[in-house]
Amino acid sequence: MSVDLQARIPNNVDLAGDRRLQRALEHWQPAFHDWWLERGPEGLQKREIYLRTAVAVDRAGWAHYDYVRMPDYRWGIFLSPPEPDRVIAFGDHAGEAAWQEVPGELRGPLRRLIVTQGDTEPASVEQQRRLGAIAPSLYDLRNLLQVNVEEARHLWAMVYLLFRHFGRDGREEAEELLMRQSGAVDHPRILGAFNRPISTWLDFFCFTTFTDRDGKYQLAALAESGFDPLARSCRFMLTEEAHHMFVGETGIRRIIARTAQLMQEDPNEDARTRGGIDLPMLQRYINFWVSESIDLFGAPDSSNAATYFAAGLKGRYQESKAGTYADHLLLEGTHSIERPRADGAIESDPVPMRRATNALLAEAYLRECEKTMTRWNQPLQNAGLSFRLRLPSPRFNRKIGPFADALFLPDGTPTDDPDEVAGHLPDEGDRAYLESLQGEAVMERAQCAQWIAPPTNPINKQPLDFEYVRA
Ligand SMILES: [Fe+2]
Ligand SMILES: [Fe+2]
Repeated sequence: MSVDLQARIPNNVDLAGDRRLQRALEHWQPAFHDWWLERGPEGLQKREIYLRTAVAVDRAGWAHYDYVRMPDYRWGIFLSPPEPDRVIAFGDHAGEAAWQEVPGELRGPLRRLIVTQGDTEPASVEQQRRLGAIAPSLYDLRNLLQVNVEEARHLWAMVYLLFRHFGRDGREEAEELLMRQSGAVDHPRILGAFNRPISTWLDFFCFTTFTDRDGKYQLAALAESGFDPLARSCRFMLTEEAHHMFVGETGIRRIIARTAQLMQEDPNEDARTRGGIDLPMLQRYINFWVSESIDLFGAPDSSNAATYFAAGLKGRYQESKAGTYADHLLLEGTHSIERPRADGAIESDPVPMRRATNALLAEAYLRECEKTMTRWNQPLQNAGLSFRLRLPSPRFNRKIGPFADALFLPDGTPTDDPDEVAGHLPDEGDRAYLESLQGEAVMERAQCAQWIAPPTNPINKQPLDFEYVRA
């Protein structure tokens, strides 16, 4: 897999060998740059940022660090190396050779999967564009911008597939990806969570913990795809996704550490009077972003999901990993899925396995989220505090699936009272308080806002007081 870094679009897909495709992508490139300047990180385009750039897909090359002005970032097209003689691991085509070209009958569903994934990438950049002005430290600012440039690279990954494999339709979809806009009334992004405002760093850290983790599970399911170029794109994107979740999880952990310290210092264990983020408010933000993120998995009983699985387009989490599953056909058996009855009681329905693959993916996701909660509660336990953060029940605040039409509390019990539900979600008061707390960006080396503990994990082994962003 030779890497062409000198080309206008760095790539390891031999763009130079396909002049038509190369010209088409070079034609899209200026529109992408305009989008980045207009809707990417605000006010920081002239700064030098200490960023990681993918320059190859092997261990040494995929994480090259240097100071870069963001408009000069080398967004490239990189696929993971091909697996020789790869076969499809699941569904009706299990055991057949993976496809290098799109099978005609799967064109529609495959295009929809790629466009839906692709749409989330620029959406999150748009959602996060104003956070730089209120960053708690240079370290956090750098991490935000790293996430942003990589989401933009993920857009490139999906756009490449559209141009290379979907002809004129693909070109039109690529243009649409730059036209839709997060939160816009008339032309919003495709999925709910990607239209919600991210106006505070608490939103950002929750989003990168829970919504980027949904991204990880969607990419993992697509990395199993029988359409090999999609599988290889997603595998490489997964290597970058890990950092996004790291940013979120360590960000919240530092908030908790700071809050625990403030609670210990206060006679009433009140972090808020001491300028911190209190735990009940943090819990409300967790409730919001977890429930929004579970919705991204789609309906737990889904005929689309069954079609994707049967066709070999989207597998289960780690479908092809040896020893994970015995049955890759899912023609037999059922999976039990909860539904509320009209009287508020919950019943469990057996759903044929293929129809339940969204539910299986969401359950794997929630198991990983539980581990995060255990890690977040550790500093509270260490400080001798009794408060524990929890994942909300998957019944809470849902807009998709069987629980969308009924009201439930975070502990999973039914209620008739919308105000009681709203009380478990962030409100205007929370936002106003966070805005007052977050003030202006902290732009001095080694300094950090008072509501979050200083960073503890170096980036590329640099000291924590490193000048991660310079004028
Ligand atoms: Fe992404
Ligand atoms: Fe991400």
